[in-house]
Amino acid sequence: MESEVIAIILIQSFWLILPAYTPNSFAVIFGGGAPVDGGKMHADGRRIFGDGKTWRGLISGIICGILVGSLQIWIEMQIDYANFIGFGPDSTGFIIIILLPVGAMVGDLLGSYVKRRMDKPRGAKLSVLDQFDFLIIAWIFVLIFNWQWFFERYIYDIHIFGLIFIIVLTLLLHRFTNIIGYKLGKKKEPW
Ligand code: CTP
Ligand code: MG
Repeated sequence: MESEVIAIILIQSFWLILPAYTPNSFAVIFGGGAPVDGGKMHADGRRIFGDGKTWRGLISGIICGILVGSLQIWIEMQIDYANFIGFGPDSTGFIIIILLPVGAMVGDLLGSYVKRRMDKPRGAKLSVLDQFDFLIIAWIFVLIFNWQWFFERYIYDIHIFGLIFIIVLTLLLHRFTNIIGYKLGKKKEPW
């Protein structure tokens, strides 16, 4: 494959997943205050989600994700580059840039729910789940809404290069935003 083709695939992979990446990062920055579970305990005597999942983080994360996605669609409408496939200006694209951030934040909540059931305190590390919970649920939301779009964009268009790139990028971004969150005093642990 030509290097230009690979470059387009990588940019496109990043582009199509960006509205799912942004919510977690913004939740770390804007999060805090009242927890989503209201401090309530599950039947097992442990917190439902824990203090790391707040309403402010959830709402700001979703709004920022949708804003980023909307900006991307706007940018797509300004450029006229035939080789690049983005979300597109039709209603499908708009629904997907909403589903990706909502799915990401639901996935993040589910991840914490699973961690609490495993008796892991807030901030405890749980490799794979910590890094990929948001991505998996965001993808499942898109898959349920429009499986043809999912397979075309995330499998066929971006090839194996794009998928590997997304996995590596997810690991790096998770690390990077958590270090920032730690430095800002939002997180007790830098992971
Ligand atoms: N955050 C938030 N609200 C959310 C998600 C995240 O306020 N819905 C903020 C919290 O300050 C949280 C930080 O972002 O501590 C990092 O998120 P994450 O790593 O997902 O939370 P942890 O504190 O590690 O908690 P958990 O063990 O539940 O993952
Ligand atoms: Mg964490």
